[in-house]
Amino acid sequence: MKGLFLILSIESSCDDSSIAVTRIEDKKLLFHKKISQELLHSKYGGVVPELAARLHATALPKILEETKEYFSELKAVAVTNAPGLSVTLVEGVVMAKALGISLGLPLLPINHLKGHIYSLFIEKEERFPMDLLLVSGGHTQILHVEGYDEVELLATTLDDSFGESFDKVSKMLGLGYPGGPVVQEYAKKGDISKFSFTVPLQNSPKVAFSYSGLKNQVRLAIESLERLDEQARADISASFQKTAVEHLIQKLKKAYKGKKIENFGVVGGASANIYLRQRLEGFCKDKKASLHVAELKYCSDNAAMIGRCAIDAFKLGKFKRFEDIAISPRTVYG
Ligand code: KG4
Ligand code: ZN
Repeated sequence: MKGLFLILSIESSCDDSSIAVTRIEDKKLLFHKKISQELLHSKYGGVVPELAARLHATALPKILEETKEYFSELKAVAVTNAPGLSVTLVEGVVMAKALGISLGLPLLPINHLKGHIYSLFIEKEERFPMDLLLVSGGHTQILHVEGYDEVELLATTLDDSFGESFDKVSKMLGLGYPGGPVVQEYAKKGDISKFSFTVPLQNSPKVAFSYSGLKNQVRLAIESLERLDEQARADISASFQKTAVEHLIQKLKKAYKGKKIENFGVVGGASANIYLRQRLEGFCKDKKASLHVAELKYCSDNAAMIGRCAIDAFKLGKFKRFEDIAISPRTVYG
């Protein structure tokens, strides 16, 4: 393993403990492991931050043990420091600082959302400019990205995020956490037009998103039922998913009206949604744009995307002194 230049990356912004080792020269992913806590949070209907932090404290060292063979070739340690849950981010950042001090390595703090953008480029060259839809549990954004340092936020949500709305609907239907995959499965067996939910902000000229009203419409629909049986769950899932995605498509059309798009990407945990991907294929066809998606295993939170993003941060010399690496729950591109 002599002569390699490697980055070790750590991700712990929410409920996934993950570590990767990426080769700088050719972007090859040499090691990647993720321990997901989904099942442990499921009975609470969402992520419990304190529990997540405790689980990271045991899962991260367990994964780190498996990366020891790479230690002598590491050139930097990268870690997600924002945005995310403060108590879980701290677990990754403290581990990164301890590794940096003990191995004498510089640190690269990485923005989690930039990590999602780079999930499109794992083991590949980056491709900019890129227009993007970022849909995760915490964010719903339209972005124009020219490069690592040039991320322009074109639209965001006024309240809940796209992924979060699936989680909340799932909870109301008694289907557990995370909601995205299970609501998507139920939607397959449901009648898409059984419930006619209103598309949020459809008459507003604003290019922004809102999901709290749709969540309320679903709540009222459930309350109006005599019995919430499996078919009703499927019909609500299908009608809700159609409306939630229609909202994204309507606002994308507004955002890019009269504008050309060459490359359009969709990233974030909820970008795994098959119905969303189908609708985006239609949107990109109309705009004569190429649609870029990440491999399904890299849509949800993972350290491979953080490591890939860190290669560009490394090349740009984005190292930070240990005492200057603060964690932040906020969304800041910069
Ligand atoms: O990016 P991610 O792993 O974590 C955050 O950074 O938030 O995204 C997780 C979110 C959850 O809200 C989950 O329900 C949603 O992504 N999600 C989906 C699907 N798979 C995951 N939402 C809709 N459809 C899916 N197939
Ligand atoms: Zn994420």
